[in-house]
Amino acid sequence: MTNSMTTNSTLRLPEVQAVLERLHTLADNNDATIIQQVIESGSDWKSSSSEHKSEMFREALLPISRDIGRFLYGVARSISAKHIVEFGTSYGVSTIYFAAAVRDNGGGLVVGSELENSKVAKANQNLAEAGLSQFVEIRAGDALQTLRETGSTIDLLFLDGWKDIYLDVLHLVLGNLRQGSVVLADDVELFRDDLASYLDYIRNPAHGFVSVTLPLDDGIEYSVKL
Ligand SMILES: C[S@@+](CC[C@H](N)C(=O)[O-])C[C@H]1O[C@@H](n2cnc3c(N)ncnc32)[C@H](O)[C@@H]1O
Repeated sequence: MTNSMTTNSTLRLPEVQAVLERLHTLADNNDATIIQQVIESGSDWKSSSSEHKSEMFREALLPISRDIGRFLYGVARSISAKHIVEFGTSYGVSTIYFAAAVRDNGGGLVVGSELENSKVAKANQNLAEAGLSQFVEIRAGDALQTLRETGSTIDLLFLDGWKDIYLDVLHLVLGNLRQGSVVLADDVELFRDDLASYLDYIRNPAHGFVSVTLPLDDGIEYSVKL
């Protein structure tokens, strides 16, 4: 019997659990201080470029919570996702949950995207440590450029980069989303104002989605392409 059969889920493999626990703990210990430092620096967030924002948060993971991680894994398993696209990879926490699901779905690819080069290196290292590198390609640079070509039909799109371009990223890959695919947008309660145009779009029935906010962590918008 293979390891994944005895454990039933790649998420339970010791090497995967060890990396996830290390990264969640690192974020629990450090991210709040970094967020506070950015706030106190007086930087004007709205007028800062994406590059500048990513630079300010170079040392912060800003990952999804453990609950959202299990949710992402569960959604990807339930739709047998083999091709996942992620806007905003950071240190690769969400990417690990997706890669675990893709592995358990019989293989496929998670295409990640990250603006900050040092984070791309860290994410690749974390995925290697989890033994999941073969299921992931992280593209360095601005997602609006790097996700122009995503290869094949997309089963799941995850939006978790800076909030002002969720709608632009959605439009970029819209034509590749298959019927029944899922779009998950993180932090919609926390950034309700910044994401108003995204929510207006995805909830308008004329645009071909059914959509609802789930009250997990900072709110996650769950949308299915009809
Ligand atoms: C909230 S964090 C992502 C956390 C990650 N999904 C996780 O759960 O571990 C947002 C990340 O998106 C990246 N990002 C923001 N705008 C981007 C863009 N235009 N292209 C690529 N990455 C971007 C930031 O550098 C930052 O690392």
